[in-house]
Amino acid sequence: MSDESTRAAPADVRLDGGEEAAARLRAARSVLALTGAGVSAESGVPTFRGPEGLWREFRPEHLATPEAFARDPKLVWEWYAWRRESVAACRPNAAHRALAALDAALPSFLLATQNVDGLHALAGSRRMVELHGSLWRLRCTGCGTVADDRRASFPELPPRCPCGALWRPDIVWFGEPLPATALERAFAAAREADVVLVVGTSSLVYPAAALPYTAQSAGAYVIEVNPEPTPLSGHADVSLRGRAALLLPALVGRGAEALP
Ligand code: OAD
Repeated sequence: MSDESTRAAPADVRLDGGEEAAARLRAARSVLALTGAGVSAESGVPTFRGPEGLWREFRPEHLATPEAFARDPKLVWEWYAWRRESVAACRPNAAHRALAALDAALPSFLLATQNVDGLHALAGSRRMVELHGSLWRLRCTGCGTVADDRRASFPELPPRCPCGALWRPDIVWFGEPLPATALERAFAAAREADVVLVVGTSSLVYPAAALPYTAQSAGAYVIEVNPEPTPLSGHADVSLRGRAALLLPALVGRGAEALP
């Protein structure tokens, strides 16, 4: 995973076009949705880069890197234990539910999320890849076992696998590759999609940020939903400014009056 912004947004960002976007989505047979932290903002999960984003308070290189974990696994685990505790209190919002409804309605659909909070699954999304892993899975640094784990707390930090080695969060850290199968599924879906819906991501972190461009090159119509402009905004076919929990239900068929 790497954080870079190489594409400048042209000035002529489109802010209208909600009706056309909704019509494209209704007519689509194959949709890829790409989500980021903004989709969970209205559930109370902090984003990474906003004014109150997590990376304002914590330096990523201190916490979300293999080197940080090797240096101080207890510190890294304290941060993840705190994140697990705060996310456990959050519930899916109308945006997560709208994406689950699209999943249920379409013949071909994939949700590629960069989020590790598990809220899409709680909302009922089924055809999904978690590109950056999950807060709710552990991976053993010794034997490699991967385990689901929703415990509210751990008896000791850092926690240990029964084999004796340390568990780490099954999350992609800076400098690490994304899970290959998830990434392949996401790029295959991008090449097949009629419509790509990009929701609540700053579109800065690659390779996830490349998915809409791949889809667009293969002919897809790209819809962005974000209250703020991003490097994708000028390239998307339509960029809708607003909150995901308001605009997504409108886009998938309910509350069309909310569309710009
Ligand atoms: P960011 O925090 O970079 O971006 C969140 C985006 O959500 C911003 O563009 C906001 O404008 C937008 N946003 C905020 N509130 C919103 C709302 N109510 N509705 C819609 N959008 C809203 O988060 P990501 O793009 O997800 O990786 O960041 C990508 C990756 O960087 C994360 O997955 C994380 C981080 O390093 C890992 O932790 C592995």
